[in-house]
Amino acid sequence: MSSSAGRAIRYTLFGESHGHGIGAVLDGIPAGVEIDEALIRTDLDRRKPGASRLSTKRSEDDAAEILSGMREGRTSGGPLAFLIRNADAHSSDYDPDLPRPSHADLPATLKHGSAVDLRGGGRFSGRLTAPLVAAGAVARQILMRRGISAGGHILSIADVADQAFDLSKGEGPDAALLESFRREYLPLINEGVRGAMETRIERAKNDMDSVGGAVEVAVIGLPAGLGEPPFEGVESALAQWIFAVPAVKALEFGAGTAFARMKGSEANDPIVLRGGKPAPGSNRAGGANGGIANGNPVIFRATIRPTPSIARPQRSVRLSSMAEEEIIVKGRHDPCVVPRALPGLEAAALLSLLDLIVQAEGVAWMR
Ligand SMILES: Cc1cc2nc3c(=O)[nH]c(=O)nc-3n(C[C@H](O)[C@H](O)[C@H](O)COP(=O)(O)O)c2cc1C
Repeated sequence: MSSSAGRAIRYTLFGESHGHGIGAVLDGIPAGVEIDEALIRTDLDRRKPGASRLSTKRSEDDAAEILSGMREGRTSGGPLAFLIRNADAHSSDYDPDLPRPSHADLPATLKHGSAVDLRGGGRFSGRLTAPLVAAGAVARQILMRRGISAGGHILSIADVADQAFDLSKGEGPDAALLESFRREYLPLINEGVRGAMETRIERAKNDMDSVGGAVEVAVIGLPAGLGEPPFEGVESALAQWIFAVPAVKALEFGAGTAFARMKGSEANDPIVLRGGKPAPGSNRAGGANGGIANGNPVIFRATIRPTPSIARPQRSVRLSSMAEEEIIVKGRHDPCVVPRALPGLEAAALLSLLDLIVQAEGVAWMR
């Protein structure tokens, strides 16, 4: 298993959903960088369980203790270590002998045997996005000072779709819009679909079922030329982090899968002069060509599956007897994890892009 990512800014994740706690170590941030701990709290509050009536009833405060790497509001040059303690775990809700369909229970048991801790999803739980969000809040503050920001909205829940970002223009959404998204549990461009989205989530909950959807994230202000292709190109670097967020099953950049139905004349972004510099005049590529940032916003969409744990009867196998058995999953599960995955996806994007910037430029600019 690999719990670390990043070359220049190294991120290491630890913990299990029902163990003592979860956390992360972020290494590579130089000394003397001002970090507002209250802003880490703000980002964590967006993802914590119970943040909305549409979310799970697991009640976790999700406060991140910073164990090291900070002194009086500034980084000290050592690794930043975050610890988030687990408080509200109901481990009796989980039977390790009867794996939940489509969670990681079965493959993790086949890989690790019975020693694996799968209570509450163990290290495969969506809860492990909390340390990602805490570390991402540090990256957000550092990048914001050089005019780079990230924000996303809910593109769809079940069959209800929000308006997508406009790819016909090279300039993307502005920082004020991205910032406003961060104040909502269901951030939307078209407010008119809010009621229908909420209804889809409530209906899934009442039906003891779950729904999936997609989020769309924009990162603005990135320097043209960023990216170390082919394996650390903008898309490949982002993909590694984005697929570390549980329940993400597809990722596309710019026009993404719609490219399959386009002609070159429809798909190409013309090169125009913007502020006296050549730049793509539309953004169907989603901000990168050849893995290198082209100066337009990086825009990606991530598809998030319906929550695997549903309370309806499903088929499973009792591992000790190797007999098929009906399972009714207990525990407190979100009928839709899309809104709670979004802050994790923003954090994943910020951390991967910060790492690419530091790979190219070092850290002197941060101080
Ligand atoms: C914020 C968040 C919360 C999640 N909560 C749950 C949950 O309550 N119950 C559940 O079955 N899955 C939940 N998931 C999804 C599972 O963790 C995920 O589907 C599982 O680890 C299998 O991984 P995969 O879907 O990426 O293949 C959540 C995911 C995220 C991002």
